[in-house]
Amino acid sequence: MDYNKKKTLKDIQVLDKKVLVRVDFNVPLKDGQITDDNRIQASLPTIKYLVKQGAKVILLSHLGRIKSEEDKKTKSLAVVGQRLEKVLGQKVTFIPSTRGEALENAIENMKNGEIILLENTRFEDVKDNQVIKYESKNNPELGKYWASLGDVFVNDAFGTSHRAHASNVGISTYIPASAVGLLVEKELQMLAKGIDNPDRPFVAILGGAKVSDKIGVIDNLLNKVDKILIGGGMAYTFFAAQGHKIGTSLLEADKIAEAKRYLEIANGKIILPIDSATSKTFSNEKAEFYGLDLPDGVMGLDIGPKTIELFQKELIGAKTVVWNGPMGVSEFSHFAKGTTAVAEAIVSLKNAFTLIGGGDSAAAAIALGFKDDFSWISTGGGASLEYMEGKVLPGIDAIQAKQ
Ligand code: 3PG
Ligand code: MG
Repeated sequence: MDYNKKKTLKDIQVLDKKVLVRVDFNVPLKDGQITDDNRIQASLPTIKYLVKQGAKVILLSHLGRIKSEEDKKTKSLAVVGQRLEKVLGQKVTFIPSTRGEALENAIENMKNGEIILLENTRFEDVKDNQVIKYESKNNPELGKYWASLGDVFVNDAFGTSHRAHASNVGISTYIPASAVGLLVEKELQMLAKGIDNPDRPFVAILGGAKVSDKIGVIDNLLNKVDKILIGGGMAYTFFAAQGHKIGTSLLEADKIAEAKRYLEIANGKIILPIDSATSKTFSNEKAEFYGLDLPDGVMGLDIGPKTIELFQKELIGAKTVVWNGPMGVSEFSHFAKGTTAVAEAIVSLKNAFTLIGGGDSAAAAIALGFKDDFSWISTGGGASLEYMEGKVLPGIDAIQAKQ
């Protein structure tokens, strides 16, 4: 779909307006503390722009998944409000509810340039211990209610754009004016450049545990890329399809036929590993290395040194590289070498457009210190995956088109 036709911030009037902004503040938490505030940082351009333009900024986001009243205790957005206030250097008023008089009064009393943050939109998924999914199932009354709180809607939650929820699609449906925010605009530009209009040679690197997670991506990319390098747990289902012995490595037996079919139609475009770093158990034991066939009782947890060399060679001269999914169990130091080496090989390319499609590979690259070395690291995991699959993103599709 042509996302370029969607209205952007610059296409709408925001002075004096109550602007509802859907952001993706679904940040990782550990013991109640934010461990990575990338998504908060990524929302700043839109928030600052709106403040400067004299809008009243009303922020909505989810945080985690809410399946019980208990979940609400650990998934309040209060902590996010505090972090936002700090990184923004401006007061952010947190309203600990998703509806009601206190919220409505607070919005009525806002002055231009002020910011309010609502409580976690997914608190609307559970009421009195009943799972009602008003947010996640896009309940029309909830969408209408939230829309009634503002004049304009801005969707800047790229990471949530593959969901059709009340706080994105619902609000867009019932509000008179809507646009995408600066982050969404940038994400779409970068994904279009990487996936739809790539300079060649175009190399995709896919990893992660499961073939089933990446089938749609392989399907959509096979026609577009010059090569797909496959690593991670998903490689072992391809090995099984070729008749290799894979020991106790991850296998999706019901995907062997599909893996076989892809290898046939790929015409040599799919490049598989040629060796593995292995262990006897799923743990950070010292690695043992084997070639294409693994002995019984051994599991592959990373690509091996020969594969690293092969992948480095395959990347030489690439002008576009799109990466999604780690090459091994990168949270184990003995099995992080493949992911680190691939990240290093990508960032060392000269004049190449390099994109990480969010999720685990983005987290790994950032943890390894490559945050500023890629052309773009998407803030969306599932959302960028669905873009790579060629699917329509409902949260963006629902935004008004330019006139
Ligand atoms: C994400 O991190 O994947 C997005 O914020 C969407 O969250 P969800 O996968 O729980 O819908
Ligand atoms: Mg997700």
